Amino acid sequence: MTRVFSGITPSGHLTLGNYLGAIRQWVAAEQPAGDALFCVVDLHALTTEHDPARVGRLSRQAATLFLAAGLDPQRCTLFVQSHVDEHTRLSYLLECTATDGELRRMIQYREKAAKAEASGQGVRLSLLTYPVLMAADILAYGTDEVPVGEDQRQHVELTRDLAVRFNQRYGHTFSVPKATVPAVAARVMDLQQPTSKMGKSAENGAGIVYLLDEPAVITKKVMRAVTDSGDDGVVYDRAARPGVANLLDVLAACTGGEPEKLAARYSQYGPLKRDVAEAVVELLRPLQERHAELAADPGEVERVLREGAGRARALARPVVDRAYRAIGLLAA
Ligand code: AMP
Ligand code: TRP
Repeated sequence: MTRVFSGITPSGHLTLGNYLGAIRQWVAAEQPAGDALFCVVDLHALTTEHDPARVGRLSRQAATLFLAAGLDPQRCTLFVQSHVDEHTRLSYLLECTATDGELRRMIQYREKAAKAEASGQGVRLSLLTYPVLMAADILAYGTDEVPVGEDQRQHVELTRDLAVRFNQRYGHTFSVPKATVPAVAARVMDLQQPTSKMGKSAENGAGIVYLLDEPAVITKKVMRAVTDSGDDGVVYDRAARPGVANLLDVLAACTGGEPEKLAARYSQYGPLKRDVAEAVVELLRPLQERHAELAADPGEVERVLREGAGRARALARPVVDRAYRAIGLLAA
């Protein structure tokens, strides 16, 4: 059986990018025997400036959205990273496996560090070591597959490198995982800035569809999406026409079509935008309805998370203990 693990950081409200790039694949990866684990990776939310009260609220909301999206706690394990100590225990061993140079090469680190520096906030050390904690998240469970969006490929590659290096030096300990990325909409772009990723922590939400946005708000954001100038109608060209390509990707992801073929159906941007807005509203409608029901009973979400943490701990503990022995630490 394939062990699946993935996570989302509670650093903002979840977006359409999170859903199409990650959560939707998770629902497809659920298995009857409960071999898939999905995690609210709250420790990762502490790597940049954060509001303590908000992290807890967003963590609960993310978990509620996992359930609303259709993840079934009978068939997979849902939990919060900070509830399972094995992640940070293993992270330290992997810090002793990784090099400073390879972490400084991570694209996301470079981008986020530049931003933190520019705003005068200072770069938290954990921002540099964060991909090592992510590797620990994954390797602690003997993971085979990591369903993520395109932007996380480099981190999963690093995880593979660390697993292979550890195994070579200290004996076989970890499975070597691989990233699984969706065929379309693996990188949903900001509707206002279609050359940047739709990210949940951007300052301006006008180009971001949040999963809990009202239908009228979704429609307005899509109708105002930046499109590209050009008089040859609607064509799918990610490099030359990023705005239109993004809308076609989203439409394809919502309706199951292919972006190139969908382009041929339109000669103007207006009707394309109307169809995209409608498709996104309909895609999110059941999720929003289910979210409203679940949010009315936060005790139930907390129960699911507590039970999930127990299951996760039991799975991770022996793997991490094995790593402690392999690297040379005395048994307690
Ligand atoms: P994050 O929001 O960075 O915690 O990402 C959680 C998951 O959502 C990861 O698998 C990301 O790759 C995925 N993801 C985030 N933003 C996007 C996006 N704009 N398009 C596709 N996938 C995304
Ligand atoms: N770094 C991921 C992101 O920002 C979130 C994450 C943390 C993750 N640990 C993980 C994803 C483990 C998959 C597996 O998107």
